[in-house]
Amino acid sequence: MLKKRSVTQFLISVCTFALVAACTQSNNPVPSSSPAASTGASSTAAIPIGIAVAQTSNVALLGQEQVIGAKIAETFFNQQGGVNGTPIKLMIQDTAGDEQGAINAFNTLITQDQVVGIVGPTLSQQAFGADPIADRAKVPVLAPSNTAKGVPQIGDYIARVSAPVAVVAPNAVKTALKLDPKIKNVAVFFAQNDAFSKSETETFQQTVKDQNLNLLTVQKFQTTDTDFQTQATNAMNLKPDLIIISGLAADGGNLVKQLRELGYKGLIIGGNGLNTSNVFSVCKQQCDGVLIAQAYSPELPSAINKAFRDAYKAQNKKEPPQFSAQAFTGVQVFVEALRAVDRQTKLNTLAIAPLRTALNQQILAGSYDTPLGAISFTPEGEVNQTQFYVAQIKMEQDGSNGKFEFLN
Ligand code: ALA
Repeated sequence: MLKKRSVTQFLISVCTFALVAACTQSNNPVPSSSPAASTGASSTAAIPIGIAVAQTSNVALLGQEQVIGAKIAETFFNQQGGVNGTPIKLMIQDTAGDEQGAINAFNTLITQDQVVGIVGPTLSQQAFGADPIADRAKVPVLAPSNTAKGVPQIGDYIARVSAPVAVVAPNAVKTALKLDPKIKNVAVFFAQNDAFSKSETETFQQTVKDQNLNLLTVQKFQTTDTDFQTQATNAMNLKPDLIIISGLAADGGNLVKQLRELGYKGLIIGGNGLNTSNVFSVCKQQCDGVLIAQAYSPELPSAINKAFRDAYKAQNKKEPPQFSAQAFTGVQVFVEALRAVDRQTKLNTLAIAPLRTALNQQILAGSYDTPLGAISFTPEGEVNQTQFYVAQIKMEQDGSNGKFEFLN
């Protein structure tokens, strides 16, 4: 299998600068992008890394945080000398919120921008549409936020830095039970048109059973919905003492708001799609108390996290969120794997196709000290990560602002 072959096998068959005239266009050496501004890197030919996340649509509530994290990484690693003296340059494409947007962004990055690899897309729903295109083109993809079951299994070139629902989501239920040991009856909501939400609700429902709780009802909605009165009323009639929501920020935030307006007083768990301070403007004061499991803590005591956190806080005047930390990590993994490939064979002697393949191999072989903690990958591209957390939203009285308070 491709993932198991050695880097050297690919490096002996490369199309070098000396042979470039005989190469096809797709075999051209790594393209030169404009130099990164004011960097510690000495070369002027920047290495293009694709960023394909949502900057428009409702999904931009998550994607905007990803762009911030990726850009901090670009500046940080270029100040360190980039890839052994050559700067990186992010090529950023908006995927918007659907599959077609992600497919278009991937095609542009792969064919036009000739990126060495892609950090993206924002949603698992988009990954199942766009990742097969990158996999067929043999372009490594690092998913920065796709947490549905099955994403790394899309193909040999697909890995993720975003820990899956199965390891993250149960932590929120366990924390809810610590906060309120009397919880017994649970209502679960999920967005039925979203691959991640469908995957996450399976994990939540299994956790409810594993914890010997009663699963009273499972209510379905769409990520495009704004009115949840019917489902909220159905659930509340059954008197739950815990409600668990798997959706995205806009719909999930509105659902939280409407449950509180209808008088629900118990604990609410929001899934990974609600894990952004952008949800504060949706549910305002009603966001207060929502529990959300985290794959990142700003408090992680490491030099790389301190550098990331300081840079984020200097720009944004608040603690960095998980989606920014994961996007930073995606860029970091590319940079460190590129450095390792370059130490074996200078990148500017490699054509783009063998470079992408060598890079994919190196990503999977390496281990990385990141803001998420120490991570590595399984041969399938699943992230190995050990530290997870749960945070609770604390809103200011007037609902104008809030923060995630870490509980462990
Ligand atoms: N974790 C969410 C997903 O996988 C954003 O779609």
